[in-house]
Amino acid sequence: MIKHILFIVSSIALLISCDLTRTTTKTANPSESTKADVHSYANLKEISTKHLHLELDVNFENRTIYGVARHEMINKGADTAIFDINGLMIQKVTIGEKGTEEEADMFIDKMDKDSILGQALMVPIKKDTRFVNIYYQTTERSDALDWLDTNLTSSKTKPFLYTQGQAILTRTWIPLQDSPSNRITYSADVKVPSDLLAVMSAKNPTKKNNEGKYHFEMNKPIPAYLIALAVGDLSYHAFSENSGVYAEPELLSACEYEFDAIPKMISAAEQLYGPYQWEQYDILVLPYSFPFGGMENPMLTFANPTLLAGDKSLVSVIAHELAHSWSGNLVTNRTWNDFWLNEGFTVYFEQRIMESLYGKEVADILALIEFDELTDELTRIKKSKNPEDSKLHLALEGRNPDDGMTDIAYVKGAFFLKTLEERVGRTRFDAFLKKYFERFQFKTVDTKQFISFLNEELLKKEHISFDYPSWIYAEGLPENCIKLQSQRLENMGKLADDFTNGKVSFAPKVTYKWKKVGKRRKKIKQVQQIKFQDHIVQEWQTFIRRLPRNLSQAKMREIDRYLRFSYSGNSELLTEWFILSANCGYVPTNKKEISAFLCKVGRRKYLMPIYEALLLNKSTRNFAVYTFNQTKANYHAVSRKSIEELISETK
Ligand code: BES
Ligand code: ZN
Repeated sequence: MIKHILFIVSSIALLISCDLTRTTTKTANPSESTKADVHSYANLKEISTKHLHLELDVNFENRTIYGVARHEMINKGADTAIFDINGLMIQKVTIGEKGTEEEADMFIDKMDKDSILGQALMVPIKKDTRFVNIYYQTTERSDALDWLDTNLTSSKTKPFLYTQGQAILTRTWIPLQDSPSNRITYSADVKVPSDLLAVMSAKNPTKKNNEGKYHFEMNKPIPAYLIALAVGDLSYHAFSENSGVYAEPELLSACEYEFDAIPKMISAAEQLYGPYQWEQYDILVLPYSFPFGGMENPMLTFANPTLLAGDKSLVSVIAHELAHSWSGNLVTNRTWNDFWLNEGFTVYFEQRIMESLYGKEVADILALIEFDELTDELTRIKKSKNPEDSKLHLALEGRNPDDGMTDIAYVKGAFFLKTLEERVGRTRFDAFLKKYFERFQFKTVDTKQFISFLNEELLKKEHISFDYPSWIYAEGLPENCIKLQSQRLENMGKLADDFTNGKVSFAPKVTYKWKKVGKRRKKIKQVQQIKFQDHIVQEWQTFIRRLPRNLSQAKMREIDRYLRFSYSGNSELLTEWFILSANCGYVPTNKKEISAFLCKVGRRKYLMPIYEALLLNKSTRNFAVYTFNQTKANYHAVSRKSIEELISETK
C-alpha cells in the first residue's frame, strides 16, 4: 500500500488544494437549516462518516504524511459528499470499497486568504454511494502537525511528531468531516521509521516492532478532533492493569513518580460519575513544544512535560484530562459554541477528583486560583470588541473556535455547576450528573439539550428555581455565584502586603534565648525564616499575584535570594514571577532565565502572559520580539500564531 501511495506521489501531477486543476470557486455555504455546525463545511445531515480507516506513511525526511482516508458513510440520498480540508494536497478521490475503487471527480473550494475553516472538498456521488476514499498528503500548512528535530527532544537523537486536532485542526492532517457533532469509529495502519514507536488515541502497542508498522483500532465512536497520532522514541511504564505512561526513555522514571496517583484518580472518578468506558487510560508525555498542558485524546492523554515538576504539584491537569473521559469524550459538545459543556463540566469534575484525593482545602485553593484568573478574564472581555464572549453559550460563527478557549468556558462554567451544586445539595447534584453522563453517553449535546435535561431531571423534579439563563445567556458573572474562601490564601495575601510594607523579610532572623539545662543556663540560637517548603506552589503563586506591580528591585532581589523564584522548576510559579518581573522592570536581572524558559517551553498558557507583559513594557518589547523570532520555529503553530497576533495587537 505504501509503495502504491509513493508511486502516485511521484508519477502524477499533484492536485494542490489551493487553486490548481479541477478545482472550482463554488462556495459550499449550505443554508442555515442544513448547517449542522458553523465551523464545518460537511453536509452531515445528508451524508456522514460512520467509520474511517486511515493508511498513513509518516515520512520524517520531508516532514510529510502520505495518506489515504477511507470513509465508510451513512448516505441518506446525497448527491455530493462534502469534507473539510485545510493545508492538504489531494491527489485523487475514489469511490467504492478497497480493490473495487473507481476514480471520482472532485471540486475544491477556492481558499480565502484568511480562511479559518480551510476549504470544502466536494465529491459528486450516487445516492447509494457508501465508500469514499481520499488520497492525500500533508504540507507545511498542516498546522496540526508538530515535526520536531532531534535537538528538541529529550534524547536529542531521535525526531518526534505529534498531532493536535482540537478544535478544527484535524482537517489539516486528515481530509474528513471535521465537526464534533458527528461521532465516528476509526482504524489505522501506520508506517513509521523502524526505530520509532507510533501511538494513537486508540488501543496502543507498548513496544516497537522491526518493521515500523502499527495497526490501531478505536471501536467507540468519537468526534474527529480526538483523532491523534504521535511518533517518537517512546517507552512505557504501567501503573496498573489499565493505566500507564509513555515517554521518551530519559523522562520515564520522572513520570513514574509524578503521575503515580493515576489509578486512584480513576477510582475516584468512577466513584463519582460511573464506570470509565475507554478500557485503558494512558498518558503520553510529549516534548516541551506541546502547546497545551494536556489534551484528552481518548485512551491516551497527551501531556506537557512541564507537568513533571518533581513534587506532583501540577497533577490537577491530569485529573482534568481524565475527567474529559466523561465530559467531552463520552458526552461531547455538539458545536464549538457549546464548548463550556466540555470544559466547564471538566473543571468542575477535576476539582471533585482533587477533593477526593487531597481534601477540600486543597481543592478550594485550586478553585480560587482559577477564580482569580476568571476575574481578570471578565475585565479583559468586557473591554474587548466581543464583550458577549463572557456568556457561557458562545456565538463564534465567522470566528476561530479557539476564541472560545477562555476562562469563561472553563471557570465560569465550573462555578455555574458549583453554584448549582450548592443550591440543590451535593447528593442530588451528583445523581443528576451521573444520569447526564448515562443519558448522553457516546452522544453530543448542545446547550439547549442540557437546559431541558436540567429542567426535567433536577429543577422541576426537586421543585427548585434557579436562574440558569443569566449564567448561560448573559454577560459577566451572576450575583448568586458561590463564594469560596481559603484561610491559607488569605494568609499569603497578608504576607505579600507585610513584605511590601517592610514588616516581613525573608532573610533569616536570628534570636538568642536563655534556657535552663540542669543547673546551668545556656544561650540557644534560634533562626526564624519563612522557607519555600512552608507552602505549596499554589500559595506562592497567590503571594506573587498579590504583590504590587511596581515592587522595588531590592525587594525582588530579596525574594530571589531566599526563595529562588527565578530558578524554580515549577512552570506555574515561573510564569507568575516572570510576569511580575516584566511589570516591575526586573528583567535585566533575570533575562537569562526568562529567555531560557521562552526558548524551551511551548505551552501557550505560559507563553502568552509572559510575552504580553514583556511586549507592553517599552524597555522589554524588543527583547520579547527578538526572543520570539529566535525561537518561533520551535513552537507549535497554535502557539506561534497566537504570539504573532499578540505582537501585532500590542504595537
Ligand atoms: N481540551 C483542552 C485543550 C484544548 C481546548 C485544545 C481547546 C484546543 C482547543 C484540554 O483539556 C485543556 O483544557 N487543557 C488545559 C488544562 C487545564 C485547564 C487543566 C491546558 O492545556 O491548559
Ligand atoms: Zn479541558
